[in-house]
Amino acid sequence: MIHVAKLVTACLVLVNLMPSASGLETHQHQADGAAANQGKSRKRVFPAPASQTEEPGPLSEAYGYCNTPNRTEQAWEGHSPADYSLLSVQVMIRHGDRYLLYSIPKTRRPAIDCTLSANRRPSHPLLSGFITHMGRGGRGHWDSPLSSVPRLPNHSSCDIGELTQTGVVQHLRNGQLLRDAYKHHTLLAEDWSPRQVWLETTGKSRTLQSGLSLLYGLLPDFDWTKLTVRHQWSTLFCGGACDCPARNKYLDEEQRRQYRLRVANTELERTYTEMARTLGIPTRQLRAANPIDSLLCHLCHGIAFPCVPATDSGSGGCLTMSQFAVIRKQQLEDEVERRKAGLYRKYAILAMFPYLNRTAAKMERVARANEPGRQTRPGGEEVFSLSSAHDVTMAPLLSALGLEQARFPRFAARVVFELWKSPGTTSKKKGAKAKDGEVFVRVLYNGVDVTFRTAFCKTHVRKGNQPLCPLATFLSFVRRDMFALVNATSYQEACYRRPA
Ligand SMILES: *[C@@H]1O[C@H](CO)[C@@H](O)[C@H](O)[C@H]1NC(C)=O
Ligand SMILES: *[C@@H]1O[C@H](CO)[C@@H](O)[C@H](O)[C@H]1NC(C)=O
Ligand SMILES: *[C@@H]1O[C@H](CO)[C@@H](O)[C@H](O)[C@H]1NC(C)=O
Ligand SMILES: *[C@@H]1O[C@H](CO)[C@@H](O)[C@H](O)[C@H]1NC(C)=O
Repeated sequence: MIHVAKLVTACLVLVNLMPSASGLETHQHQADGAAANQGKSRKRVFPAPASQTEEPGPLSEAYGYCNTPNRTEQAWEGHSPADYSLLSVQVMIRHGDRYLLYSIPKTRRPAIDCTLSANRRPSHPLLSGFITHMGRGGRGHWDSPLSSVPRLPNHSSCDIGELTQTGVVQHLRNGQLLRDAYKHHTLLAEDWSPRQVWLETTGKSRTLQSGLSLLYGLLPDFDWTKLTVRHQWSTLFCGGACDCPARNKYLDEEQRRQYRLRVANTELERTYTEMARTLGIPTRQLRAANPIDSLLCHLCHGIAFPCVPATDSGSGGCLTMSQFAVIRKQQLEDEVERRKAGLYRKYAILAMFPYLNRTAAKMERVARANEPGRQTRPGGEEVFSLSSAHDVTMAPLLSALGLEQARFPRFAARVVFELWKSPGTTSKKKGAKAKDGEVFVRVLYNGVDVTFRTAFCKTHVRKGNQPLCPLATFLSFVRRDMFALVNATSYQEACYRRPA
């Protein structure tokens, strides 16, 4: 008998790793001499350059997922109508490029250097300064489990899941890009106060290091003594509100749906069988080893797919790009089915409410502090928050916001919430009170403004003088409206309702 829990675990891995990012850039992969000199019978497979014109197929999607830091990026953060002022920015990122989490049995792991060196590509002008600055991290304040996490990747042969130099550079670039986007808005003064910057991360070194890389890009040589790094023990960033029995019911149903779809795909099953025969292992073992994770790691680093010699049990040979493409294609199809089924969205609403509720509350606090006549301490409110997270955090965030068409979070993906205030009107009538400006939110995903694609602002009628989405719309979405999809009006109700 097959154990259901085990199957579900294997499926979860697929949910977690479903990358469907579309690649716009083309990559050059050079065949390295060492590989070419290995046994003549072993045909090495090199990724073909992705074409810019054709529909994004599984391969160009995969390159987009890698997010190689090798081109200038369009970023629409910080854009607003004239005279609007920026009140706060809240960012969630996925960690940058990392070493594989699962290795393929019988194969050698790809050789990737996880030490940092400004002389190795990809590099960044801030990389040397970043390395030095992290050495002084002892001056910062750390929630207890974080103080023992390494602040830099530092293994000449990457550890499982370790952030690579590519991952650090991706986030230095993100930070610098936000620095440029916000420099005209005086988001943070030179002498920002400790309360104005919030950094939180899970306990994994790749998220902690990614968060610090972005922060360093945004605020080079920041004052460590002003920084507190907070720990989120759950990948859902749900703080003290993680209990929600109904949430896992939706996830279980979603994973069963995913499993059924997968086993019904004969092309996929044939491909797994073929790969297992090459390696000389049972198909079941190969599937459990989640080969796509390792193959993506090869692809993102321009390393040829693994080859093995023939043995008594296996035919030997190389894993191929077409096998990779079959697995990826199935994952993309699964994304479409996932949207149709709607179970993941229900899970996502419950999973992301605590984070969204905190985000909404912060916005409301900042907006209040900026009302006229408020005597607030200067530097009293958080104006920049950064949550350094995982794909299993960002995918449900996008889904909960109704950004169902968004691509699966690539390495170093970012979601940005900006809070803006329109200029107040100055009254002409003597003695009349000037009208205070209104407050608006903007949502961006990887630099693209997606505000009017979100569930809460999709139907908002843009008025001529309201090019942004009112904060009130977002607040009522988070606090009530989004629960309509789970036939409830609150988190408590949706989480604890007895099954019908
Ligand atoms: C970026 O890609 C181009 C062509 O695809 C290549 O010539 C260049 O060396 C790459 N740069 C980096 C930093 O990888
Ligand atoms: C990295 O590791 C090497 C040797 O293991 C050690 O000498 C060096 O101090 C470490 N660097 C950092 C920045 O931790
Ligand atoms: C949502 O946020 C409010 C603060 O705005 C807080 O009082 C409330 O407890 C939060 N709800 C949950 C379930 O976390
Ligand atoms: C929605 O909730 C209400 C009240 O809890 C209940 O009467 C109704 O049957 C539910 N509808 C569905 C479709 O579950």
